Amino acid sequence: MSAVLIEPVQASRAQAAPAIAAVLLGTGVVGGAFLKLLNTPAAASIRLVGAANSRRQQTQGEQLADRALREKLKTHGDVRNDALLLEALESHGATVKVIIDATACGTLASRHAEWLARGYHVVTANKSLAGGDLPGWRALQAALAQGGRYGDSATVGAGLPVISTLRRLRHCGDALLTLEGVFSGSLSYLFNQYDGSQPFSALLRRARELGYTEPDPRSDLSGEDVARKLLILARCAGFALRPDEVEVESLVPESLRQLDVESFLSRLEELDEPLATRYAEAKARGGSLRFLARLNQRGRARVGLVEVPANHPATRLYGTDNQFALSTTRYNSQPLVIQGPGAGPEVTAQALLGDVLALA
Ligand SMILES: NC(=O)c1ccc[n+]([C@@H]2O[C@H](COP(=O)([O-])OP(=O)(O)OC[C@H]3O[C@@H](n4cnc5c(N)ncnc54)[C@H](OP(=O)(O)O)[C@@H]3O)[C@@H](O)[C@H]2O)c1
Repeated sequence: MSAVLIEPVQASRAQAAPAIAAVLLGTGVVGGAFLKLLNTPAAASIRLVGAANSRRQQTQGEQLADRALREKLKTHGDVRNDALLLEALESHGATVKVIIDATACGTLASRHAEWLARGYHVVTANKSLAGGDLPGWRALQAALAQGGRYGDSATVGAGLPVISTLRRLRHCGDALLTLEGVFSGSLSYLFNQYDGSQPFSALLRRARELGYTEPDPRSDLSGEDVARKLLILARCAGFALRPDEVEVESLVPESLRQLDVESFLSRLEELDEPLATRYAEAKARGGSLRFLARLNQRGRARVGLVEVPANHPATRLYGTDNQFALSTTRYNSQPLVIQGPGAGPEVTAQALLGDVLALA
């Protein structure tokens, strides 16, 4: 009973003096869901001092408090200028200052280390730095060694506690032996559903309509996004891999890679035959197909389609579930398995919020 009474008091105090000043970069699907969360009591300690999409930004308090901010930024606001956003952050009295990156923009990600070095915290759903080139990742580690915090829970599994678990195990002296799983919500859905009864292209069109794939499904089918997630996890586990050390099997045939999106979408049927053949072969042996990411003890990393036996853990996934199976020196007879919805705006935005609140 007392907890029920205390909570609103804490919330109103926090509203009077927000402890965290935040700039939000990206007001798309995830950024939009984050803006909605900012209007809940859980986020009372956060004051938004700037928000931007790729073309416009806003730093005026009244406009930022507008519940239609995301929509309005599409047509109104100042021209994009990172320096002015940082100025708004700098001039706020809060002790904790954070830049939240809800974009997929490589140029912005390349500035994360610089922002940390300048004394800001960074919370990100953007994988481009931690899952990108090794020099960029090393620069991030160097900046973090000087202080500042990097909230990256949203980058893998949309906030499922996989990054935090890997870090915790390592902190306790445990070592990752193998990591295996399904790291993509869209590829999870596609291969959880695909049973040869309908063409893969029909299933892919449906997944796209449901918003499970990127507008250009090649971003999912290429395996590159899964490879970035595997790099992030491998690096958390102590394997400082380069991107070219991850073997990636793309499901997009060479002939479809350079097309514009519309042309690609009009030729999806070209995906059908090779996948139908692989599915039939797997089925004849009692197995099925799953798009897996794998890392072994020697740091060998691979992303691609795998024929798995009927009792494989990845055959017990639903919808767009992600799954991460970790074998370690201490979890060695059975893997530690983390599974659940690994995509979606609400859970991803919540992962961002959790990382921001953890800064205070
Ligand atoms: N969707 C999910 O379920 C999910 C799950 C986990 C992680 N993520 C990650 O979250 C990030 C965002 O995903 P999303 O689905 O929200 O993408 P989205 O809907 O395409 O939104 C991206 C947003 O970033 C903005 N943007 C691009 N470049 C920018 C720049 N230089 N400065 C400021 N804003 C910029 C875009 O602006 P415009 O509107 O002007 O183009 C847009 O508002 C991605 O890195 C994605 O991989 C997404």
